[in-house]
Amino acid sequence: MTAGYAVDWTGRFSGTTPAVVRPGSTTEVSRVMEICCEHGLAVVPQGGNTGLVGGGVPLGGEVVLSLRRLRRLDAVEQAAGQVTAGAGVTIAELQDHAEASGWRYAVDLGARESATVGGTIATNAGGLRMIRYGGTRQQLTGIEAVLADGRVLSHLGGLVKDNTGYDLASLLCGSEGTLAVVSAARLRLHPPSPEVVTALLAFSDTSPAFAAAAGLRRTLPELEAVEFFLHGGLALVSELTGAKSPFSKAFDCYLLVEAAGVTDPGPALESAIARTTGVADVAVALSDTQRRRLWHLREAHTEVINTLGPPHKLDVTLPHEALAAFVGDVSELVQEVAPGAEAWFFGHAGDGNLHVNVTGVEPYDDTVDTAVLSLVAHLGGSISAEHGVGRAKLPYLHLNRSPGELSVFRAIKAAFDPRGILNPGVLLPAPDAAAEG
Ligand code: FAD
Ligand code: MLT
Ligand code: ZN
Repeated sequence: MTAGYAVDWTGRFSGTTPAVVRPGSTTEVSRVMEICCEHGLAVVPQGGNTGLVGGGVPLGGEVVLSLRRLRRLDAVEQAAGQVTAGAGVTIAELQDHAEASGWRYAVDLGARESATVGGTIATNAGGLRMIRYGGTRQQLTGIEAVLADGRVLSHLGGLVKDNTGYDLASLLCGSEGTLAVVSAARLRLHPPSPEVVTALLAFSDTSPAFAAAAGLRRTLPELEAVEFFLHGGLALVSELTGAKSPFSKAFDCYLLVEAAGVTDPGPALESAIARTTGVADVAVALSDTQRRRLWHLREAHTEVINTLGPPHKLDVTLPHEALAAFVGDVSELVQEVAPGAEAWFFGHAGDGNLHVNVTGVEPYDDTVDTAVLSLVAHLGGSISAEHGVGRAKLPYLHLNRSPGELSVFRAIKAAFDPRGILNPGVLLPAPDAAAEG
């Protein structure tokens, strides 16, 4: 009965739990936390369990606190352009709800049918449209959260200008369930952009592709997405899902580009592409079906790579000028430190965020992770762009964060959760490990 809550989406991280608790209201969450705190029971908050860094599963035998039953979804506030949603509402449900009221929730990701409002806040999910609308933190105008001892903090007024001290919503966003349990949030909506144009650009090399991503960002205000993948990933998607490339021949790499506006952004995209050097071929979607087909080629990467066995998922940001060389260098590095393993590259080129997935490596063997993430830090990049630290990236956090920053992290953790019962071992070392280390 509890198995589905104890293993992560990739199958790389699995644990055991004495209990899965599924509260149906903020008051019930508060009571559960009060009891767990009283008895010193460790708790893992869990939403849709689509997280990719092992942060939402009970690897240390914790109680699983599933928030999926927190299904509050208020009417859209038309004047404010905001909505209040419970932690368990999925991103797809929130998007549909906003759309039905003439608005749009702009955070979007392949896991939209399962990922929840609470989980995306806890991880500060980025996703496919971050270049235009920002990530989850930029959508948050208020939060309701339950502290480790059961106290409820509620600041859901949604005032856009509100400089009354520390911004707790922002702090809890990206805290990965280590500071408090998010029970509801007030979220910013955007006016819809009904006219959409989607194109797949082919390149013979990564350098012009990343240069094109930067150029399009600069010259096309309607740009919503610039997604990157290589021929290897496209071939795997085709092989396993039957999807076809729109091109009659293979190219080295691709950019999926989408622009949207109130009026047709097609002509603007067309002239921006015409001004872009290095584009070897272009396929423009002429219908919704074609548009979905192009998106499938990108979005299916996560799923098809997972069929090769649990991948080591490295989710990194690099300074723009380092992106193209990084792809080649990491392919060689992986062969050096793990001969026979395979590296897959895709991601959000507009944000400088590459997903490096390595398959053919045992789940517990971190040689590749160490080699790649050390290179990332050396290049001035981030070892976690959008998935969070969880347990998978904890050994590498010091590559990006100074001892001073980490000591402030620990002080914040102690202020919110003095008994250390919320997600021990996620983002920061568990208390015993910290004492040993
Ligand atoms: P979970 O996986 O359940 O939990 C994630 C973390 O949040 C855990 O640490 C957990 O303890 C904590 N948590 C969950 N709910 C709460 C709560 N209510 N209060 C406090 N803490 C909580 N991520 C991106 O950023 N961009 C993408 O484009 C993207 N695409 C994806 C595509 C696929 C196919 C998959 C499988 C994953 C993708 N992800 C992406 C990763 C994942 O979907 C996100 O990290 C998402 O935010 C997790 O939401 P969730 O509800 O599933 O959270
Ligand atoms: C994506 O961009 O597809 C997601 O972050 C998921 C992944 O990295 O596999
Ligand atoms: Zn991503």
